[in-house]
Amino acid sequence: MRFVAFFTALFMLFNVSGSTVVDRVENFRLLDQEHSAHELYYHKNAKAVVLMVTMNGCPIVRNLLPDLREIRAQFGDNVEFKLINSSLQDTYKSIRQEVDEFAFDFPVLVDDTQLIGEVLELDRSGEVLVIDTSNWNVVYRGPVNDRVGYETQRNDAKEHYLADALTAVIAGQPIAVPKRQTFGCLINFPERQQKAAHAQISYKNTIAPILKERCVSCHLPNGIGPWAMTSYEMIKGFSPMIREVLRTRRMPPWEVDTSLAEIHNARGLTLEERKKLVHWIEAGSPRGEGEDPLLAVKPLEKSWSLGEPDLVVEGPAFTVPATGIIEYQYPAIANPLDRDVWVRAVSIQPGETKAVHHVLIGTSEQDIPRGERRLDAVFKNYLMGYAPGAESYVYPKDTGVLVKAGGQIHLQIHYTAFGREATDVSKVALYFHNEPPTYNLRQQVVIGLDLQIPPGEARHEERAYFEFEQPAIIYSLFPHAHYRGVETRFDVHLPDGKIEPLLHVPRYDFNWQHSYALAEPVKVPAGARLVHRTVYDNSTENPANPDATRNVSWGLQSENEMLYGGFFFRWENGTSEKPVHDELNFQIAQFYGAFDDDFSGGLELNEMPGWIRNAFETGQLRQFDANKDNVLSQSEYRAFAEYRAQEARR
Ligand code: HEC
Repeated sequence: MRFVAFFTALFMLFNVSGSTVVDRVENFRLLDQEHSAHELYYHKNAKAVVLMVTMNGCPIVRNLLPDLREIRAQFGDNVEFKLINSSLQDTYKSIRQEVDEFAFDFPVLVDDTQLIGEVLELDRSGEVLVIDTSNWNVVYRGPVNDRVGYETQRNDAKEHYLADALTAVIAGQPIAVPKRQTFGCLINFPERQQKAAHAQISYKNTIAPILKERCVSCHLPNGIGPWAMTSYEMIKGFSPMIREVLRTRRMPPWEVDTSLAEIHNARGLTLEERKKLVHWIEAGSPRGEGEDPLLAVKPLEKSWSLGEPDLVVEGPAFTVPATGIIEYQYPAIANPLDRDVWVRAVSIQPGETKAVHHVLIGTSEQDIPRGERRLDAVFKNYLMGYAPGAESYVYPKDTGVLVKAGGQIHLQIHYTAFGREATDVSKVALYFHNEPPTYNLRQQVVIGLDLQIPPGEARHEERAYFEFEQPAIIYSLFPHAHYRGVETRFDVHLPDGKIEPLLHVPRYDFNWQHSYALAEPVKVPAGARLVHRTVYDNSTENPANPDATRNVSWGLQSENEMLYGGFFFRWENGTSEKPVHDELNFQIAQFYGAFDDDFSGGLELNEMPGWIRNAFETGQLRQFDANKDNVLSQSEYRAFAEYRAQEARR
């Protein structure tokens, strides 16, 4: 023991002086070069997280990658490895180029606000930080080894600092020399010298207006937010928590990646807003001069903001328990209308705002028995989805949705317990067109019925598509998965092979269901496919995962999964009077999109669902494989479906 202590003391003499190793790294979430989200505390099951500081164009980092790979091969079961880039001059795009060119096989976390690098006291690329997940302390920072220096390198390292540190952390031992000098390129952190200026950020002119714009729609009296932003004192009191939700990108919820397509109702903060808020909080949340704009925040008003509705219906009363998980509710209300109407706008007024996380609404011509409602009923003839701050949907110009007389109005309501029992009665308002509109606004889904998520797998992607038989215009997108869904996307695959990204939600959250309205409707030609992809985390690291030991397949219950991408669109050439498609085409498009896993357009044997494969192998369907290639093309399937329909009519 003494011997060890002596050597440790001796090593300390050679340790670089200066600031100590960061004590507890607070949680953060950053996106990588592909815009996938990484959260530090997600890796609680690993023994350590290694962050290597990188910067495009740094020869030392490029040189050290093989060493890092070797170390990962040795420790990868226990340790999570990531790169982090805080450089001002690097962008997602230029980082992707660097990653491609030098075949990085580590995610590069993009610290685009520099907020994380500032606090971690990053300084030079090439440095590695070892974070012990038992207490989130940085237990080692310095070079990977002694192989690479400025304009010098050896074939082999003599000292293996990082590997030694990891061996020690895994064994629960202290690290002999926790901090060493790194060779690498200096990173410019201009705001680091600006601490005095941060204390001058104006609460009145800068901070309060950001909060009003981005947060107050939920954080107001009677709003869904658990506390209201009604004064400087409230903000000051909550400021450490505000800083945390900004660093972890938990608020505002349903954030999208706006570097792709513009989303009309996106809620993210700009980089500048994020920096201003966090720097102001880090400077002690100074009050500064001027009146307090938040004193003017009024309680949420329950009124129909679109004016007097043509029809208001009320859902049944539901008692929300004080705590616990509440399964989705699927109430149905008899449609009181005795005539067909074209709806032009819909509005929802939740009764107990704090409890209602989302409401979807749709209608059906026939009554659907209680046991069969589930997710489907609202999508028979979908009208809108409510989320806090998005109470109304005014349909795009000249479009409408036909609601036939009779039948039912369906709601799907997601309640969240908020600490006291409450009774909710939510109301729906419909606004009608006087004349039939020019276009029929339609709702469809991309659906992945054959999804299979292996147990324990942390990043499993499923995809499905819907192919447009005619030119169409897409207006909004609604991704839906359950507790294992963590990231979701929509892209358009054009017939010429080009791919256009439409929506990317880097961190999908079952608790926040949201319809994303495209800022500009997107026109797609015939033959284009709307592709929906979702990444599922079925590992124990996913705190929402109900059971990491199960192979998970499709199911409406939340312990099963869904790949379900709703979208509003209209046919470019069809009018509300003259539909331009037939139902069978619709069904076939959806069916192929669900099962054609390799996107070839046909169904190979291994892609066929059981009953089709049976029919195919017993010969009943085989005769429809006109060209005998063992692949069921869409036209072959259509011939079969038409034959079956005829048989049924006989
Ligand atoms: C769409 C509604 C909505 C918006 C917009 C929103 N919040 Fe929240 N916020 C909530 C809800 C609901 C909660 C309660 C936690 C939950 O359910 O996720 C919450 C919780 C919080 C908390 C407490 C964290 C916790 O769960 O303990 C903070 C702090 C916070 N929000 C800050 C903000 C800030 C800052 C903004 C704006 C940048 C913002 N929120 C925007 C709805 C919202």
